Amino acid sequence: MSDRIHSLSGYIHEYQRSVNQPEQFWSRIADSFHWQKRWDKVVDWDFEGPDVKWFLNAKLNITENIFERYLFTHGDHPAIIWEPNEPNESNQTITLRQLYEKVNQFSNAMKAKGVGKGDRVIIYMPMVPEAAVAMLACARIGAVHSVVFAGFSSNALADRINDCSAKMVLTADGNFRGAKSIPVKAVVDEALEKTSTVEKVIVFERTKEAVDMKAGRDIWWHDAIKGQSTECKAEVMDSEDLLFILYTSGSTGKPKGVVHTCGGYMVYTKYSFENVFQYEPGDVYWCTADVGWITGHSYIVYGPLLAGATTVMFEGVPTYPDAGRFWEVVEKYKVNQFYTAPTAIRALQAHGTEPVTKHDLSSLKVIGTVGEPINEEAWHWYHSHVGKMKCPVVDTWWQTETGGIMISPLAGVTPTKPSYATLPLPGVQLVIVDADGKELKGNSVEGNLCIKYPWPSMIRTTYGDHERCKQTYFSTYKGMYFTGDGVKRDEDGYYRILGRVDDVINVSGHRMGTAEVENAINEHPKVIESAVVGYPHEVKGQGIYAYVICDMENRTEENLTNEISETVRNIIGPIAKPDKIQIVPGLPKTRSGKIMRRILRKIAEGDTSNLGDTSTLLNPEVVEAIKEGAK
Ligand code: PRX
Repeated sequence: MSDRIHSLSGYIHEYQRSVNQPEQFWSRIADSFHWQKRWDKVVDWDFEGPDVKWFLNAKLNITENIFERYLFTHGDHPAIIWEPNEPNESNQTITLRQLYEKVNQFSNAMKAKGVGKGDRVIIYMPMVPEAAVAMLACARIGAVHSVVFAGFSSNALADRINDCSAKMVLTADGNFRGAKSIPVKAVVDEALEKTSTVEKVIVFERTKEAVDMKAGRDIWWHDAIKGQSTECKAEVMDSEDLLFILYTSGSTGKPKGVVHTCGGYMVYTKYSFENVFQYEPGDVYWCTADVGWITGHSYIVYGPLLAGATTVMFEGVPTYPDAGRFWEVVEKYKVNQFYTAPTAIRALQAHGTEPVTKHDLSSLKVIGTVGEPINEEAWHWYHSHVGKMKCPVVDTWWQTETGGIMISPLAGVTPTKPSYATLPLPGVQLVIVDADGKELKGNSVEGNLCIKYPWPSMIRTTYGDHERCKQTYFSTYKGMYFTGDGVKRDEDGYYRILGRVDDVINVSGHRMGTAEVENAINEHPKVIESAVVGYPHEVKGQGIYAYVICDMENRTEENLTNEISETVRNIIGPIAKPDKIQIVPGLPKTRSGKIMRRILRKIAEGDTSNLGDTSTLLNPEVVEAIKEGAK
């Protein structure tokens, strides 16, 4: 049964219902799932705690809602289509029944190695179907998965393993990415030198490069599943039991583990998937994200599979072997819904329209974007050349913490407007506040985006540190969840996301804390102090600009900037490498010692005409020197 909305008036009606009678609304949606025991109460919440529970005391297993629910009728239906990095390597189509068997077999393999309900399992894998199998197998046996993007460094991986005291790591020998092959297992080996909780490592063979297998700890995937049954009873989970932890960056400190739970996440990801993309049975859906990010969790694996969809998983990158790869894959599988990031669109736009027009994209019905604001030019390019002016563009705003899409057109239902995420999904009660927390009512207002009522897939806590969750999201504005984003509501009541208002930057759709990058830079022995800001970047949306004070003895600027770049790469990973590093004699500070980032941002943007009054700074002379050096 589908709860798909088909018209604008239908949307308005449903939205009103969801606000006036949220419990009845969500209860009706949740009724279409398979629960082992129904809930006693739909929602219990308090944003002070915060303490949010959905579908209280209900029992379920999310994988039964993917498999058992559809197996009898749709067992032969393709669940995952996998497109490898190399276009001429053979692809794979995995039916629902085959996926079910793989998941069960791997569930049994993990159990045999001592993993059970509540244990944390790190997944550090390339984009192969086994990554999805690993996630679903964890869910099947009640283990809590934490997927770490396979581009993160061994240090970043070790931090995450330690933070959640993971018992097992699932990985591969290597990872093919475009023309490169990344030695993933070697990174895991390095990380495990800094951790003590991991008992077993299961290694999927992908690239066949030589790896060290530590006796007693490391097992090949194919050996682990040997002889294991393809039947595995689903663990009975409480609605509020942990489903997964996903680490994400904030404005301070190390990345935090965002916690999502079983019941609410299941209901919301399926509901939002069906409505935003207007998925119809038989459609082929493709989201180009990596399973290491929330987009991969909610809209490659869980949302689509819960809806009985065919989901495409792509191992490679948009420009390999050439800039036509996405469109070649769309043509090959006759993709109906295509979902990607603005940074990929801008990168492809730079190659012109020839790689697009070469391919038959007539199967496309809906095209979507996620991860960062999409500029109007990129929106129009996407709409005209990829969507041929006939496919609605769904610009979907959401976050790791929201678990699912919050503001977006429903394809073909909500009239679109370039660069606007448009309207909230049913159940999402948005509020715009000014700096003092005063609600800005009516249209044509701009301020900070908050949410005043819980939704089923919202963050429950930050793993191991509930206070941090409270401080980060629920303390800035009393009684509300604060998103960290600035927003405008225009004269039509449409929402346009303006970007982060905190010290988080968004580089190619990847979230990064400026403090996190600064801490990595400061690890270099010659660095005395640093300040990192974002600046507009043509392709990446935002680039990373680092101002660094260094001890220059025995070093040239070039040596130093290269070494600093390497340090960041080692500590976080290649995605955090600064685009620009400027060695400076000092950083502009207030008399109380606070770095004036506003000035640094302006200089990074190349806008030095209007730096405001710098005379009250502790060290105004330094501003001139930085301006000179930035030229
Ligand atoms: O600033 C917003 C931006 O990405 C942030 C969330 O990042 P992350 O948790 O990594 O999740 C990304 C994928 C859901 C938001 O706070 N963002 C996400 N989608 C959009 C966006 N900014 C503008 N428009 C969007 N559609």
